[in-house]
Amino acid sequence: MTTRPDAHDPSTLGFLTQAVHAGNAIDEGSGAIRTPIVMANSYALPEDPSSLSWSNTDTKTYTRNTGTNQEALQSKLAVLEGGDDAVVLASGVAALHAVFFTHLTSGDHVVVGDVTYEAIWKLFTELLPVKYGIEATFVDTSDTDAVAAAMRPNTTLVHVEAIGNPTTKVTDIAAIAAVAHDAGALLTVDSTFTPPPFYRPLADGADLVVHSLTKYINGHGDAMGGAVIGSADLVAKIKAEAMVDVGGTISPFNAWLIMRGSVTLPLRLRQHLASAEQIAAHLEADPRVAYVAYPGLASHPQHEVAARQFGGRGYGAVMAFAVDGDPDTQNRFVANLRLITSAVSLGHDESLIVHVGTSGPRVQHYPDEFKRYGHLRFSVGLEDPADIMADLDAALDATFGAR
Ligand SMILES: Cc1ncc(COP(=O)(O)O)c(C=O)c1O
Repeated sequence: MTTRPDAHDPSTLGFLTQAVHAGNAIDEGSGAIRTPIVMANSYALPEDPSSLSWSNTDTKTYTRNTGTNQEALQSKLAVLEGGDDAVVLASGVAALHAVFFTHLTSGDHVVVGDVTYEAIWKLFTELLPVKYGIEATFVDTSDTDAVAAAMRPNTTLVHVEAIGNPTTKVTDIAAIAAVAHDAGALLTVDSTFTPPPFYRPLADGADLVVHSLTKYINGHGDAMGGAVIGSADLVAKIKAEAMVDVGGTISPFNAWLIMRGSVTLPLRLRQHLASAEQIAAHLEADPRVAYVAYPGLASHPQHEVAARQFGGRGYGAVMAFAVDGDPDTQNRFVANLRLITSAVSLGHDESLIVHVGTSGPRVQHYPDEFKRYGHLRFSVGLEDPADIMADLDAALDATFGAR
């Protein structure tokens, strides 16, 4: 018997339907069929507010505690990731910090992927050790044995990216979850490069999933936000400690923009993933390109893990590559692009590229070709793939001369 779909019961809905309906409600005041933007920092109190807890995150009193647009986005993201609850904050970094601030205590040890977003490196090499006495070991998380060997009696958390920024290293989340849980530690996964329905780390054993909503989930390059999704108790602690008492609140307008952008997430992802696979192969075949790092290529060291873990749905839509030349040549190539925009973000509707050099402490963990050439981090957008490839080809011709 087929289940009758009910917009109020996400468990009866497919992912495309969830992306449209989850978290949305008819507005009781106006009758509007989409949750409106509620640009208020305070809500009307009950007649006797004297027994209200100022730290509560359930009753709408003050937007740092909760608000209409945060609540709508949180319930949607919990459904899309398959968690009990979610907390949304002002940026992806605010969400990452909220996880660590809440779930770590002085004296704890953390195992961190050696390829992660820049801010994670700084948080665990400088800020958290010095300010809070938290120790961290950076490990190649594509090597499960190395992660197991790095665990200590005081390891309380393992943090990885499903596909690492920027090298596209892939971590086997189920294997690392088993290692973390055997040691009594939490596994937190930054899934910004791998949004649902492409991948759902909670189903593979992650305890908390973090997103920069700024990227694919919003998808339109016009708002910043971050989210943490997971079990009710782990998320409630983050809301109570890092949201109410530290701040980092998302603006209602940004929460509304991200809610709207996320409606088309599955449709956009389908195109991002298909285009990226085609474009990575196209670049790799060009002798003027020094290397391409993309999990969908057979040459990628974790290609098989990626194929299994992502179930054939795709391999992400961010790649790193370099043209065959020095840093000036990389810059000339980028300057010769006429469609792809040079900018730092990713996961937007438009294709974005950024030239990153070979200096800085994180580079010690990068593959040799990244150390030699630097890399161009390339986020494949929603333009016609033929147009994107034509722009890349024309820029290669302008930089090196036609083949
Ligand atoms: C994997 C990953 N995590 C977190 C962030 C930080 O997100 P935000 O810029 O929204 O703070 C980024 C930003 O590029 C990212 O790529």
